Formats: sequence, structure tokens, C-alpha cells
Amino acid sequence: MAHIYLRNDEDGLPTRTSQDYAKDKLTILKEYISRFTTSMKDKKWRALNYIDLQAGPGKNRFSPSGYLLLGSPLIALTTRFSFDHLFLVEMGQSNFNALEKRVGASQSNASVQLYNEDCNRAVNRIVEHISRLDSRYLVGEWPSLNLAFLDPEGLEIEWITVEKLASLNRMDLIINFSTSGITRNAGQYADLEVETVFDRFFGTREWRSIYRQTHRHGSTAVRRALIDFYLSRLKEMGYVETKRQEKEFKNQRNVQVYTMIFASKHDLAIQFWNDAIKHVVQPKLL
Ligand SMILES: C[S@@+](CC[C@H](N)C(=O)[O-])C[C@H]1O[C@@H](n2cnc3c(N)ncnc32)[C@H](O)[C@@H]1O
Repeated sequence: MAHIYLRNDEDGLPTRTSQDYAKDKLTILKEYISRFTTSMKDKKWRALNYIDLQAGPGKNRFSPSGYLLLGSPLIALTTRFSFDHLFLVEMGQSNFNALEKRVGASQSNASVQLYNEDCNRAVNRIVEHISRLDSRYLVGEWPSLNLAFLDPEGLEIEWITVEKLASLNRMDLIINFSTSGITRNAGQYADLEVETVFDRFFGTREWRSIYRQTHRHGSTAVRRALIDFYLSRLKEMGYVETKRQEKEFKNQRNVQVYTMIFASKHDLAIQFWNDAIKHVVQPKLL
């Protein structure tokens, strides 16, 4: 049986408190990873890599249900057919310490690199590491196949970080787009002279005019327009039509809180994603 640190049980280490609706995000991730690693395990990829830019402590406690569930990095670490390399970033010190202990209990053959720093910095070393793995031409081997999970609380992940990841040849992205934070705060930032966290998140100031054109139509219009803008930026980097690969999540007050976006350049990955999201049916809301 797996070590208690790697099970959905109380282990005395810090957990991340999340709302029950966030459970679905982890279910989709788990389903996706399982399809991805199972189907790719015997292919000629040099390595299967998982990158988690905001890994958290490794376990989540959900409210109000009280359920404990492994967080994203441990879902990736404990999947049946393992990744070759995991790159896990967590800036918060106590979360990082808990993650390090939990990861240390694993018997997996995967190599795990942990980074206790801002993901917008760590990404450079992660991409360098993978580029080095891929740099030598090996007869009959393909380069690495990479999956990155971007799970911010708000706008912490800068666009240049997404671009850096996408600079790798085969990089699929699962992005948790925090819609409630964005629509609530955009108005405060749209007219500031200085560069803002929004500008760094979108990688441009263009979002400001989109906000100005849509805000009189209400928050739903702002949300849609800003997500579409972000998707169009992914498309410019060669990702295929991402709009159909979205999954929206609402809270019990029927407010849309986040949208999961999947970005890949390959049909098979998109098929895995569409199968994974079928496992989650948003409960009928009051
Ligand atoms: C939404 S939580 C991640 C939850 C995790 N993915 C899971 O499924 O259990 C976001 C995490 O990112 C960390 N964080 C916030 N800003 C960060 C940054 N700039 N770089 C790295 N980690 C950051 C927070 O401490 C928090 O633990």
C-alpha cells in the first residue's frame, strides 16, 4: 500500500483548503494524465515530462465536505504509468516543505525536481533542463513529450512564462483561468499608466481596450472577451482552436469561478482531453 503521504488520508502535514467545486479540476487532471501516460508509455518519446508551476502542498482539504484529495503534483507522481521527470514549483515555504516530504515518500522511478521559488523564474531552468535532454539527436527517438499544469490563484503566471513553455517542441498545457478574479479586478487596472499584473498576465496592454469595449455589457461579456483574447494568444503560438477545449466551473451561487483551458497542437491529445472532461458533470445549480 502507498505511504500515507501519498494517499487521500490525513497525514499531519499542511493541506490546501479548497472549495468543493475545485474537486472537479483534479478529477479532470487525473483522468487526463491517466490517458496521456497510458497511451504514450511505449512510444519513442525520449521522456514524458510533467511540469506543475504552482504545485501547492500536495494535498487538498475540501470544504464543506471535508474530503481530502491528493493535489496535482501527487496525482502526477502516483499515476499508474509514471512520467520520467516531474518539475514541481511552489513558492510558499510551508507548502513547499510539505510537498517535499510527501514527494520524498514516493517509490516511483520518476526523477523529481523541486523549485521553491517564483514559477516565472523557475520556468527558465525547467525549459533549459528539458532542452538539454532533447538536444542530442538519437536515432529512432523522438524529443520529450511535455505536459504542464498551470493552476494559479489569480494572475501570478505571466505570459512570458507561457511563451517559454510553448517554446518546447511538444508542450501541452492545462491552464486554470481564474475568471472570477479577473472580471472582478480588471476595471481597477484598465486605466493605470504603469505596467500592471494584468499586462504581464496577458503579455500586452491590448486587453485594456477589450475591457473598455465590453465592460458596459456586464461581467459575462468581459469574461468571455478576455478568455477569447487569451485563447487567441495561444492560437498565435500554433495551438489549435482552443475554444472548444474549455471547461467552465461555477460555485453554488452560480458564479463562474474558473475555466479550464486545454491547449495542444495534436488531435490525439485533444481527444484525451475531451474524454477526460466527460468525467465531470457540473451539478445542477440553484
Ligand atoms: C491554486 S494553488 C495550487 C494547487 C495545486 N495545483 C493542487 O492542485 O493542489 C496555487 C499555489 O501556488 C503557489 N504560488 C503562488 N504564487 C506563486 C508563484 N509566483 N510561483 C510559484 N508558486 C506560487 C501558492 O502558494 C499555492 O500553493
